[in-house]
Amino acid sequence: MTNLTIIDHPLIKRDVAILRDATASNHTFRTTLRRISSIMAFTVTHDLRVRKTRVRTPLEETTGYVLADDIVIVPVLRAGLGLIDGFLDVLPEARVGHVGLYRNERTLEPVDYYSKFPQGLAKSLVILLDPMLATGGSASAAITFLKRRGARRIRFAALVAAPVGVKRVAANHPDVPMYAAVLDRKLNDRGYILPGLGDAGDRLFGTE
Ligand code: PRP
Ligand code: URA
Repeated sequence: MTNLTIIDHPLIKRDVAILRDATASNHTFRTTLRRISSIMAFTVTHDLRVRKTRVRTPLEETTGYVLADDIVIVPVLRAGLGLIDGFLDVLPEARVGHVGLYRNERTLEPVDYYSKFPQGLAKSLVILLDPMLATGGSASAAITFLKRRGARRIRFAALVAAPVGVKRVAANHPDVPMYAAVLDRKLNDRGYILPGLGDAGDRLFGTE
């Protein structure tokens, strides 16, 4: 689908199955989310620019590399919090912003309640994180927030995506590449992804 990369990897397939399992404990859900997000981070960052530097080994001086891009990771509260540690494990130099959104249960439209971003979004590569891309309302709204604050280079990493959400984000933000671990079938009449993994925020924080 437009703009969407499905990250195809055996370890990701295994972790998606663990996350889907309704009997997984909150602890298992949390640790698996952290692990799968750090595996996904490799693909989401595969084309980052690097800058040459010099490094002294115990034996001699040689060429080394540092990331040329300033990276800002932005989880969508709450469930996106489950993805930040995995990304920070492999991107320790990243700064972190936050967007707080929840879906109105009747209209399924996002309601915003918080945002805080580091300075200099305009010159940063911004990686938006939210495990669930359902109707696409939350991701679209979060990307609009980021753009209003000056972000120009944005990528969106989800875990489970629904076709309708992918289409909505691609239509509203054609400049934003999307990544997901899996593209699921459809939404049910309450806006939940099928087969999905249920309410990610509730399973992450034990508020089912
Ligand atoms: C979930 C999820 C996304 C949103 C996706 O958040 O983490 O932010 O739903 O649905 P959408 O694509 O239809 O907008 P939720 O509203 O459940 O809030 P929570 O993470 O605080 O529980
Ligand atoms: N939000 C979730 O947490 N799960 C879904 O299936 C859809 C939206």
